[in-house]
Amino acid sequence: MIFKTRGAKETQKLAANLAQKTANSKPLKHARIFALEGELGAGKTTFIQGFAKALKIRQRITSPTFVLMRHYKLKTINWKLLVHIDAFRLRDWHDLASLGVKDIFADPGNIILIEWAERVRPILPQKRIKIHIDHLGNNTRKITITEK
Ligand SMILES: Nc1ncnc2c1ncn2[C@@H]1O[C@H](COP(=O)(O)OP(=O)(O)O)[C@@H](O)[C@H]1O
Ligand SMILES: [Mg+2]
Repeated sequence: MIFKTRGAKETQKLAANLAQKTANSKPLKHARIFALEGELGAGKTTFIQGFAKALKIRQRITSPTFVLMRHYKLKTINWKLLVHIDAFRLRDWHDLASLGVKDIFADPGNIILIEWAERVRPILPQKRIKIHIDHLGNNTRKITITEK
């Protein structure tokens, strides 16, 4: 599906809708994966902020560029953790594998959002949702959501 947003707020609202739908759905056999792609400043972190807020996460979300990964507790029956990964500084998927992400990917209770997911594609579970964000103008973005 393709969406066009005009401003960060609209992108966050789209993300919040997706978060709600995810929260209300049944877990898979492994974690739910959202693979975010798009250049610097596209709005990947902005999207994740809207997603997290809809799941009642109160902390301020920023790109975990240097720590690579952050965890936030979810207080629902089905979902335990929201995991935010930023692959910007990784050379390739081997770097992520060495952080022990396989266990995190395997847990059905986790919702995982990955910025720069294109850099670590080989390690991602097949079943995932791709969110590709393109710049259209200063405040406009094209957001393509593809389910695999
Ligand atoms: N339609 C839009 N959707 C998302 N962000 C937007 C939009 N219009 C303007 N912006 C701005 O673009 C920037 C996106 O930054 P950020 O989310 O950190 O990008 P990324 O994580 O992809 O590098 C923010 O400053 C945000 O306010
Ligand atoms: Mg970012």
